[in-house]
Amino acid sequence: MHYPHLLSPLPVGELTLPNRIVMPPLVIWKAGLDGMVTQEHVDHYARSAGPGLCIVEATAVSPEGRLAATQIGAWSDEQVDGLARLAATVHGWGGVAGIQIHHAGIKGTKERNGGLPTLVPSLVAGAPKGAVELTPDTIRDVIEAFATATRRCLDAGFDVIELHGAHGYLGSQFLSPASNRRSDEWGGPIEHRARFLVECTRAARVAIDRSGHRAALAVRLGLADGGDPPLTIDDGCAAAALLVDAGVDLFDVSNGGSQPTRRDEWTRATTLELARIARTRVDRPVIGVGGVKSADEAEELLGSGVADLVAVGRAILADQQWAAKIIDGRADQIDRCIDCKPRCFHFTEPENCPPRRARNRLLSAR
Ligand SMILES: Cc1cc2nc3c(=O)[nH]c(=O)nc-3n(C[C@H](O)[C@H](O)[C@H](O)COP(=O)(O)O)c2cc1C
Repeated sequence: MHYPHLLSPLPVGELTLPNRIVMPPLVIWKAGLDGMVTQEHVDHYARSAGPGLCIVEATAVSPEGRLAATQIGAWSDEQVDGLARLAATVHGWGGVAGIQIHHAGIKGTKERNGGLPTLVPSLVAGAPKGAVELTPDTIRDVIEAFATATRRCLDAGFDVIELHGAHGYLGSQFLSPASNRRSDEWGGPIEHRARFLVECTRAARVAIDRSGHRAALAVRLGLADGGDPPLTIDDGCAAAALLVDAGVDLFDVSNGGSQPTRRDEWTRATTLELARIARTRVDRPVIGVGGVKSADEAEELLGSGVADLVAVGRAILADQQWAAKIIDGRADQIDRCIDCKPRCFHFTEPENCPPRRARNRLLSAR
């Protein structure tokens, strides 16, 4: 088995990724009190060794931006030591350490984030009771939170900072005309709707440049969504061009999903097709994601020019040795993710992931 594309290095900004396998951000809901990294996180990432780029899971930039009390955070200097353990874990296998920084916006309900108000671009249908529309001043506060979180993640030793601009979270909510109904400079035409992500990018870029670290800046961009009205691919590409001008080095392309998340949004055709389009229209390397299970599929995607890097999410959760087995020439021994429907068990019951359960049964029978 030979994977010349998958196992070749790629320069990104001033960094070189040792291979083209990306572990995308995958929340595991194991934070301790106050969004602190726990030993369970460290063990989880240590078991996932091998990807050239590992992007640590969605990390909240502020307490009200959390999706859950068990999400890790980068809103306090006290969180830096724990984050540093994760960066060191990835460096330990020779990988480039990335981290995704995140604000849940409309999805950060009071019940989940300790009673803090839910902040939204516009009070659209579906906003939780008590949600508060962001003002120009509070928008600036959130952008500042992204900048400070970037600085903390750099202090922790991360090489790639990824801003979450997909999946219906705050960056997507601003981009999408369905969830952004503002008539000020933060809403309306795509140049205005992209302003929030552009300003977060500029602020993160300044933090990187000031830090003296050779870090790269990525955006997970929801290139399009199925909202009413939708974020079109043309608008998504226009936003990407503005983000390039603001200092983005790498795009992690996914969907916007601003409307109630449809189960099929993470299907291979949709998000990989978005990556392919972005790659032809955006002047930066692109990560493609969505349903990749085997090394052969990943190799084929790279060989046919769909993306520059392939992210493998659920398949790595199902077999954390996924990348290591390919690197060691044991790709045929990967325990294959079976694409559980309607939703991956890892969101709530990782112990019930079928390939993991089968492996554990085998081990305990020995
Ligand atoms: C358990 C789980 C947790 C996830 N957590 C995040 C996250 O923290 N941030 C994010 O942008 N996407 C997250 N995703 C989406 C994945 O990064 C990825 O885009 C998606 O699973 C599709 O890739 P796959 O088909 O290879 O799994 C998560 C997905 C799963 C299954």
